[in-house]
Amino acid sequence: MRTALTQLTGVDFPIFAFTHCRDVVAAVTNAGGMGVLGAVAHTPEGLDVDLTWIREQTKGRPFGVDLLIPRKYVGSEEGGMEAESLRALVPEEHREWIDALLARYDVPPLPAGRGEGGERQMRVDPKSMAPLIDIAFGHGVALIASALGTPPAWLVERAHAAGVPVAALAGRLDHAVAHKEAGVDIVIAQGTEGGGHTGEIATMVLVPQVVDAVAPTPVLAAGGIATGRQMAAALALGAEGVWCGSVWLTTNEAETSPAVKEKFLAATSADTRRSRSLTGKPARMLRSAWTDAWDAADAPAPLGMPLQSILVSEAQRRIQRVAHKAGTGARELATYFVGQVVGQMNEPKATRRVVAEMVEEFVATMERLGRLTSGE
Ligand SMILES: Cc1cc2nc3c(=O)[nH]c(=O)nc-3n(C[C@H](O)[C@H](O)[C@H](O)COP(=O)(O)O)c2cc1C
Repeated sequence: MRTALTQLTGVDFPIFAFTHCRDVVAAVTNAGGMGVLGAVAHTPEGLDVDLTWIREQTKGRPFGVDLLIPRKYVGSEEGGMEAESLRALVPEEHREWIDALLARYDVPPLPAGRGEGGERQMRVDPKSMAPLIDIAFGHGVALIASALGTPPAWLVERAHAAGVPVAALAGRLDHAVAHKEAGVDIVIAQGTEGGGHTGEIATMVLVPQVVDAVAPTPVLAAGGIATGRQMAAALALGAEGVWCGSVWLTTNEAETSPAVKEKFLAATSADTRRSRSLTGKPARMLRSAWTDAWDAADAPAPLGMPLQSILVSEAQRRIQRVAHKAGTGARELATYFVGQVVGQMNEPKATRRVVAEMVEEFVATMERLGRLTSGE
């Protein structure tokens, strides 16, 4: 295929895969798209190990790295706060409410020695992002992407000095325009259908507006795209490619926890919620007893980012540890970020097959659409 983004990035097909799993990154890249590793919870050492592995697997083919760089978060005015100071800001009543919730569902505590502190923690301040970015550039990434705000000028400058295009997610038109003004090379217009942090405007409505407003900057369409027909629709809206996140979560390579994978495979498109319960900012995830509890009248208001993640991280580990076993209510509570396309994810597949089926269905769709006007 040939679009502005296949030419800019060197991919065969303009299918960009956001994923936290390095095996999925390598599989998508090797299938002709571009895998982009979500690195928000990586340590610099961990990112170095994963990118070294991906580079070995992909042999010169392009892959990228994605970071969350929110503009507003607790401590942003001071340029970020130390973990201990942040932990001290978590109110006791929130902790007690979560403990009571987990007790109601018979979720046992973590075994001794695996308590708070050992978890892979999401970081949000630019100070802790800089070493990750250095490592990404050191591994020759073909794309650097960021979400939750316009990327800071230092990131855009460093990327351009290294010859790496910068992509940024936008859920609203004004965000997209601000990204372009900041020198972003690719705008990812993400509709509310998408998994993870998401706005309120649908992909079908957002993408053409963004395409027109940021032209000639190329746009990737995101949110609700998992098949070739959806890809054709995205390109019809003026996008130069697609950016998909949810569809990889039920692939054979995905590290999604077994109970959540099963729940995803059984879920319908009506089973997701936008909820602040995992990170403090609205993110689409599977509806579960956890999201219902946070929506209930007795629930405390979710905290700001990153306090909410700090608050729930141990609880989430407790739930995930036993969610696949009988005898507790952890399975009911288990949830994870996913978009409305979860209703189309009904069987586990190899990542390579997901890409191949998207391309095949895209080609068939273009042929069908071509016949609509060719008179054949
Ligand atoms: C599990 C999960 C985690 C996500 N985390 C991030 C993230 O850290 N950074 C980011 O830019 N986007 C993140 N996203 C959003 C994706 O980049 C992408 O825009 C979205 O998944 C597209 O919609 P879809 O889920 O319908 O494919 C996440 C999505 C999912 C499903």
